[in-house]
Amino acid sequence: MKIGIGNDHSALELKAEIIEFLKEKGHEVVDYGTYTTDSCDYPLYGEKVGRAVVSGEVEQGILICGTGLGISLAANKVKGVRAAVCSEPYTAKMARQHNNCNILAFGARVVGAELAKLIVETWLNTEFEGGRHERRVDMIMEIEKKDQ
Ligand code: RB5
Repeated sequence: MKIGIGNDHSALELKAEIIEFLKEKGHEVVDYGTYTTDSCDYPLYGEKVGRAVVSGEVEQGILICGTGLGISLAANKVKGVRAAVCSEPYTAKMARQHNNCNILAFGARVVGAELAKLIVETWLNTEFEGGRHERRVDMIMEIEKKDQ
């Protein structure tokens, strides 16, 4: 799978571990930055990955900041993004199975590298279930149209 990844300064080290993990599993990774530990603004990277996912440049996105919150909030402002902060595998599984989320977010100051890898693995191995969940996801996306 082609996966886009983005982060702020707090998550550089964890991002490197996640990229290595993804490549070991055979995935292609596009790194949208940031590329240094210099303090930066997470909305830039949330938006970049959000746009890459919605345009189809990548199939799924992974975002990491200190908590996963700011960067996912930014991504969720891009029409078509469904980004979920997941700090454990169960939420990651449900975010795919029930909510058809297209971006996984987590916090480098919240989860350690091994837990983060389990979360990522669970996310990538879970498919959207469809059925009644499809209607509900459609309802979420309809909300975007009301604000045009
Ligand atoms: C940066 O200090 C921190 O605010 C950011 O990484 C993130 O946690 C924001 O939601």
